Amino acid sequence: MELPYAEPYKIKMVESIKRSTKNQRLKWIIKANYNLFNLSSENVFIDLLTDSGTGAMSDKQWAEMMIGDESYAGSSSFLKLKKVVKKITGYKYFLPTHQGRAAENVLFSALIKEGDIVPGNSHFDTTKGHIEFRKATAVDCTIDEAFDTSIIHPFKGNVDIDKLENVFKQHPKEKIPFVVLTITCNSAGGQPVSIKNIKEVSLLCKQYEIPLYFDAARFAENAYFIKKREKGYEDKTIKQIVKEVFSYGDGMTISAKKDGLVNMGGFIALNNKKVFKQATVFNIMFEGFITYGGMNGRDMGALAVGLNESTEFNYLESRVEQVAYLGQKLVDYGVPVQQPFGGHAIFLDANKFVPTIPREEFRAQALAVELYVVGGIRGVEIGTVLADRDPVTRENRYPELELVRLAIPRRTYTNNHMDYIAASLKNIYDSRNKAKNGYIITDEAPIMRHFTVKFDKI
Ligand code: F0G
Repeated sequence: MELPYAEPYKIKMVESIKRSTKNQRLKWIIKANYNLFNLSSENVFIDLLTDSGTGAMSDKQWAEMMIGDESYAGSSSFLKLKKVVKKITGYKYFLPTHQGRAAENVLFSALIKEGDIVPGNSHFDTTKGHIEFRKATAVDCTIDEAFDTSIIHPFKGNVDIDKLENVFKQHPKEKIPFVVLTITCNSAGGQPVSIKNIKEVSLLCKQYEIPLYFDAARFAENAYFIKKREKGYEDKTIKQIVKEVFSYGDGMTISAKKDGLVNMGGFIALNNKKVFKQATVFNIMFEGFITYGGMNGRDMGALAVGLNESTEFNYLESRVEQVAYLGQKLVDYGVPVQQPFGGHAIFLDANKFVPTIPREEFRAQALAVELYVVGGIRGVEIGTVLADRDPVTRENRYPELELVRLAIPRRTYTNNHMDYIAASLKNIYDSRNKAKNGYIITDEAPIMRHFTVKFDKI
């Protein structure tokens, strides 16, 4: 008999999670005004709010924590991390920051001016926020296939080269400080970008003399998809693929809370000395001295180890295939999810799941609340609540997709937890026709309402 797959790790330390009853959860969610962000995490059984900073560190990372060097300048933990960043990315210069958006803040302060255009593949919210905050414009050049959940395409994070070239043709190069390529593309559902596409984008950027930077939060997961799906890369190691990917760009920002396998951290790595020097000034102003940039010495040490671990095939196989394991279970139960499955999360398609709840009553939010009440599982709404109101008309904006994201933390839950999540969703799906009423908003902030919004059940 063929041996089944098993995780390439065993568990050395456990953290208890609290079981609760449906009645308790009903009480807690009412108290939280039906906003999952307002729940106390100890009242959540399986927390799929994000995969950011929520993963488990290895014994070797914890060992490194113990020997962290907390010196203000020239800490040995910094030097260790610097060496690993150079080895993994190939970039010459490196600046630590406290997380991903901080890296964006520092680098963009050096590169973006008012009126600039920054093209990319569905920029992440904080990236877009840091562009728009500087009165510049983010232009989305993702391929059209990314926006249809039923189309199967191996690299839905790809850039449409014609869309990108049009942007280059419409604006002088002085107005386009760089292109940002997000790997994997979070906003398109954790979808990868192919190395062929990265090469094409890189060539076009060189032709128009525009720098290319990566938003590399999930760069290792992206490399795993390249190895599994792209011809000619089957036999390359993840580290070889990663190095090749980064060689096509001028630099990167990263939230190390994802593929850095740490709870907090980020960095900038790049080749251009002039940009590095400019960014250094902002790093000192916003983050801290250049040899810690907002990170503890021990965290830099743990990140150095984490970067080596996340670029190992065995780790990535267990990580990405666990997400797919959950996705496949849901597909087998008939539950509508976005396909192909992303690298870090499964997205429930609420338009197909609960079409019986009117869109004006926030059907994806209703589904996320129901999943919490039924199973104690916390996901996050990516639909009308998140899309917020039109800044001019103040009307609700209805995005094409109403999704609930189930982000899977790294090395944290077992496949029994995945079975539990799938069974909870199957039960909800089986009784979906009974779902008629959604929610009304009783209180909301003028922007970024999703974090603090309050609801009443209709
Ligand atoms: N870029 C991408 C692609 C991200 O997914 C995130 C964070 C950031 C940048 C910002 O990094 O949080 O360290 O400041 N994504 C988290 C998520 C919040 O839940 O997807 P950060």
